[in-house]
Amino acid sequence: MATILRDLSYRYQWLYDSISNVAALAVGGEKRFRQLPLQGLSISPETRVLDLCCGSGQATQYLVQYSQHVTGLDASPRSIDRAKANVPQADYIEAFAQDIPFDDNTFDLVHTSAALHEMDADTLNRIIWEVFRILKPGGTFTIADFHSPTNPLFWPGLAAFFWIFETETAWNLLQTDLTGLLSAVGFQRCDRTLHAGGSLQVVRAWK
Ligand SMILES: C[S@@+](CC[C@H](N)C(=O)[O-])C[C@H]1O[C@@H](n2cnc3c(N)ncnc32)[C@H](O)[C@@H]1O
Repeated sequence: MATILRDLSYRYQWLYDSISNVAALAVGGEKRFRQLPLQGLSISPETRVLDLCCGSGQATQYLVQYSQHVTGLDASPRSIDRAKANVPQADYIEAFAQDIPFDDNTFDLVHTSAALHEMDADTLNRIIWEVFRILKPGGTFTIADFHSPTNPLFWPGLAAFFWIFETETAWNLLQTDLTGLLSAVGFQRCDRTLHAGGSLQVVRAWK
């Protein structure tokens, strides 16, 4: 059931964006959801940015407002085609996040939103290692994704959302200590803020 509905939301961008817009109401709307991970970071037009698992460019459209060097990466050719049409200011590459085709120390900022919950544990670990490898020393990894609610009132909504759209990897992310994984591969400093009753985590880690 969940995978059928997820496939539908990937097939029809209006459906994906509508769901995203409704879910983002819990943090004050789509714009705030997209900007939360970037708040307080110094991103200049020269900052080299990778939007990992960029989808149809939902976060990319915000990143290009700061930097002239944004690349979107996604494994789905359909998403890459849509992102190119939606946000032509960025460059794009079709690739797997666990096997990133860029040299070591290439990017100042790697951002990923609403994607890590689709990864199994092994893939998630490989992605974190890859992000560490391609970030320049001092570079930042920003993540926005689900988290186990700290306010019980948010559990029914999250559980219903997972039941309709997600698979066990999303449930597994709720049990995963992302900051612990990041520290284990060598990120020097990690901070995490919780939003929407704890159901959204924004993690920032510095290499
Ligand atoms: C839920 S969408 C998130 C899109 C966008 N980042 C956002 O914030 O709305 C997840 C995206 O991750 C991509 N994806 C899933 N597994 C991937 C992988 N292993 N490597 C690269 N992209 C992947 C999917 O194709 C999809 O576009």
